[in-house]
This record gives sequence, structure tokens and C-alpha cells, in this order.
Amino acid sequence: MAEPVTDANTGLGPPALDHNDGLVRICQGDSTSLTFLQDASVNLIVTSPPYNLDMAYGDYRDDKPYTAYLKWVERWAEELYRVADVGGRACINIPLDTNKGGKQAIYADYIASFRNAGWSYHTTIVWNEQNISRRTAWGSWMSPTAPFVTAPVEMIPVFYKEKWPRKKEHRTPTISRDEFLEWTLGIWTFAGERPSRFGHPAPFPEELPRRLIRLYSFREDLVLDPFVGSGTTCAVAKANGRHSIGVDIDPGYCKLAIERCMGVYPHGPTQWFESSDRLWLTGAGPNQMSLPWNVALPVNPVADVTVKPAD
Ligand SMILES: C[S@@+](CC[C@H](N)C(=O)[O-])C[C@H]1O[C@@H](n2cnc3c(N)ncnc32)[C@H](O)[C@@H]1O
Repeated sequence: MAEPVTDANTGLGPPALDHNDGLVRICQGDSTSLTFLQDASVNLIVTSPPYNLDMAYGDYRDDKPYTAYLKWVERWAEELYRVADVGGRACINIPLDTNKGGKQAIYADYIASFRNAGWSYHTTIVWNEQNISRRTAWGSWMSPTAPFVTAPVEMIPVFYKEKWPRKKEHRTPTISRDEFLEWTLGIWTFAGERPSRFGHPAPFPEELPRRLIRLYSFREDLVLDPFVGSGTTCAVAKANGRHSIGVDIDPGYCKLAIERCMGVYPHGPTQWFESSDRLWLTGAGPNQMSLPWNVALPVNPVADVTVKPAD
């Protein structure tokens, strides 16, 4: 019998790197093919995909021709639709438009791609990021010849699978009255995140997944970020008592996400090393963890993660 294919980038077989601490699961994998996730298993997707702006991500080339980029978006939107439960929601943080290779109405194109993939459109939240550094490209100064208008906002279109209302049943909402009143007004104002804070080129701020998770999910729900990067969504989901899964194609970002979700980044120092079938993470934890620790991550097949005090 042929050996199962296990390379994460093929999308076949189990993920190459798979860490599960009971609340957070971080997997190295390709989100166009999440074969390690079951159909209809996810309640809320919160993510920020690559924007095709030639960003220097580790393993991923962020510079596709625009039409190829949109085809790629449709592929992972279809895969997210498969893993979403009925009533599942998808909140996708994207720009309003992009300028690379000519002006593109990327937000409008995402709505079309997601609809093609089966999703229904619900609403859009405008994130007023107030990034004034973008106010340098005026085009023609004080002349109608070719002025540029730039909106310092990002968009969060919200989609759902088949039906919008969900039954509460035995599930627990965790949003407060004041949060609900403030966040159901669809212009959200808070600052972006510094890339230097977590060692990833394009993190979003914790406030973004925090609001989306508390507004759109129950505590018993499963949250997925298919482009988890430095692990922001999963760290916030954990802080809010939700189970979550984070997927990234880059093993370095997966390790970063694991460290962050375990609460050891940026407390370090930490070190990763490999044995024949395991990845080991060692280091001293943050102050409230009294013991140094070792963590063994199964490389394949998936098994329990061992956390034990160092000798
Ligand atoms: C905009 S970043 C996400 C940042 C994240 N929100 C955070 O706060 O750190 C996009 C991520 O998508 C990852 N990526 C690119 N292609 C992917 C794919 N096919 N499957 C999974 N992850 C992918 C990149 O490695 C990158 O870390």
C-alpha cells in the first residue's frame, strides 16, 4: 500500500506540525485544503488573508496576478464553506481597495468570490484604522488633473452559511450590554498593531478578533483562523474561553503562534529543536509559571502534546 502523503503544502493527510493544548490547536497547513478538519465543524471564522501586496511572508509568495489571486481566494472560501457548520459565520479582514498593479476594488471582489463559494453576505464592519501614514499619496496636488482619495479604513465583510439566526439552546453568550451597544454600530475605531510586537509582518490588533469573537460566537463554539500568522485570533479566543484552530502555511509562524498561545512569547528565551519524530520547545515560562518546561510536538502522525517540567 502507498504511504499516505503528509506534506502540509499538498493539503493531503494530517498537518505536518500539530499542536493542541486543549483549547488551542495550531496546525501547519494550506487553507485551500483543510483535509484534517471535518465538514460542518466550525462556528466562526475570523481571519485576515494575504492581500497580494508582495508582503514578505516566510513561505508564501504574496504577488500573484490579480485574477489568479481571486481564483485562489475562491478556493479557500469554498474550503471554509465546507468546514463551516450551518449558521457558521466568516469575518474576513481585507482592505477597501489596493493599489499594486493598478487600482483594484478588492473588497467588492471578495464579496463576489465568497458568494461564488456558497457564502451568503450579511453585513460589513468598517474598521477605522486611522493610519495617517497613508496620507502621503495625493496624486496631483491641489489640481483636478489626477487627485488620489485614500480611505484610512479596512473592511470586515461578514458572511454566513445557509442561515443567519442561530439557536441559543445550551450555549453561553459572553458579550456585555455596553459592548453590544457599541459594537453593533458598524464603524469600529482602534489602532492597528506594530509588526515588531510579535515578529510577524502583518498582525492585526487583538481588539479586532476580540470584538468579532464576543459578538458573533458563544463560549461553546469553535473558532477558526485559516491564516493565523502570529496567532492573534487563537490567543484572543483562548482568553475568551473559546476553542480555536489556527492554520498557517509557514512553520515559523506556527511556532510563533504556539509560543504566543502558550503565553511564553515574548517572555522567552525559548528554543526549538527536532528529534526523529518530534519538535521540542524548551524555555523558561513567564513569571507566573514557576517551572521551566519542555513541550514535545508530534510532527506526524497527530498525537497528544506532552508538557512536562524540564529535568
Ligand atoms: C495577514 S497574515 C495573518 C496575520 C494574523 N492575523 C496575525 O495577527 O498575526 C496572513 C498569513 O497567511 C499565511 N498564509 C499564506 N498562504 C497560506 C495558505 N495557503 N494557507 C495557510 N496560511 C497561509 C501567511 O504565512 C501569513 O502568516
